Amino acid sequence: MLDSTAKLHPPAPTPRLKPLGPLALLRVLASNPLEAWTKAHFEKPIVMGGLSIGRVALVSDPAAIRRVLMDNSQNYHKDWLQRRVLSAGLSNGLLTAEGQQWRTQRRALAPLFARRTILSFSAAMIDAAAALVGRLKLRDGQIEDIAVEATRLTLEVLERTMFSDGLGRSPEEIRLAMKHYFEAIGRLDPFDVLGLPNWVPRLSRWKLRPMLRLFESAIDAIVSTRRRRIAEDLDSVPRDILTLLLEARDPETGEGLSEVEVRANILTFIAAGHETTANSITWSLFLLSQSPEWRRRVQAEADRELDGDVEGLAERLVETRAVIDEANRLYPPIAAISRAALAPDELAGEPIRRGTMVVIAPYVLHRHRALWADPDAFDPNRFLDGARERIDRFAYLPFGVGPRICIGATFALQEASIVVATVMRHFTLELAPDHAVWPVHRVTVRPSGGLPMIVRRRWR
Ligand code: HEM
Repeated sequence: MLDSTAKLHPPAPTPRLKPLGPLALLRVLASNPLEAWTKAHFEKPIVMGGLSIGRVALVSDPAAIRRVLMDNSQNYHKDWLQRRVLSAGLSNGLLTAEGQQWRTQRRALAPLFARRTILSFSAAMIDAAAALVGRLKLRDGQIEDIAVEATRLTLEVLERTMFSDGLGRSPEEIRLAMKHYFEAIGRLDPFDVLGLPNWVPRLSRWKLRPMLRLFESAIDAIVSTRRRRIAEDLDSVPRDILTLLLEARDPETGEGLSEVEVRANILTFIAAGHETTANSITWSLFLLSQSPEWRRRVQAEADRELDGDVEGLAERLVETRAVIDEANRLYPPIAAISRAALAPDELAGEPIRRGTMVVIAPYVLHRHRALWADPDAFDPNRFLDGARERIDRFAYLPFGVGPRICIGATFALQEASIVVATVMRHFTLELAPDHAVWPVHRVTVRPSGGLPMIVRRRWR
């Protein structure tokens, strides 16, 4: 058994001793919000603070989190800053909708992500992983940006599972447009943080326009092709997520989605599903490159399990999944979940005024000194052999919790398990010399400058 000093402590900013002043804070929030957190954030159940936009409460007390995201969730709506950042193109989609519109959509869309449907996507995920292996085999001994490859792969999985008619454009074109789109929305616009009204033009918003137009025309092409096929011959239409989306009905009202909502949800699934899962895969592969012990364990599991029954595959990849869960703890792709209080409340002994922005930051929560032993250490054993059951349900939230929990969690975990095991079965990845990995928070938590790795074929 290794002692804790021998454990891997992967790169992360050291918490600041004191909070930053207002101008420096704005600068850090725009470049990398992970570098703004202070020691107090990682030690206290709640930290009250203020930005020029108003009062902010960072909540890390599990009971208070339960109150915000579950028991009293009707008092906490997605806050305007988040909606503003995400609104371009995604408004009217499940991620940003509120009230009755959200309820109707969530009920209608739930069957698209039912366990049985996701299991039926195993084969498509295995095929996409095999295509990635094929690409990497051509690069044996060379340096590849694994973050780029993971993003390409997750887009391919979406294409195969959601839009099996294709994306209407080349996946590469969409991938690049998506990358620019995320870069543009990923920086908090200082004007938003300052609370300037919407009519003040934002440079970041202007940059988005051509990207949005490209997506909208690609999506319109996908939907109209599919509608035509459904009208011509329903029997020959693929039972993928797009068909299910076009057929989706709220079971209580029988209502379907409007054309605008269909488009917004397609964009939402691409936006919410591809960069997040890609980062989860990227961080898992990085951590495995740093830990010979876990690399051996995952490779042994992959050798043992990958040739068996396809549908139940992800469930047999227990150690691989523990590595992914630990990667999602240390580098949660969604680093912060935020809400606005609609009415006064009390959280962890602090009065919460109406309008307060309540932030639950998985990045902070997952490294909180009061909730985890040796929180900055990489240790997938936390998720194995009954240890998982001892983790407080409200202390580990890579996918959120409560009514707005990620609808794609099972999809993402199944995909990541299959891909990480498949890559590890065929390759040993080694960080490129002289490359320092550093996490940066831009909508998702990703390695700054990508993840260049030497790809070495494994000969079994
Ligand atoms: C590792 C991968 C993923 C992570 C870490 C992740 C994380 C999250 C989190 C934290 C939330 C809750 C946000 C909140 O409460 O404010 C969320 C919601 C959501 N996610 Fe994911 N997600 C992932 C993959 C996916 C995938 C693959 C899809 C779809 C294909 C997806 C679609 C959504 C949608 C539509 C919502 C909004 C649900 C609602 O409000 O009802 N996500 N995700």
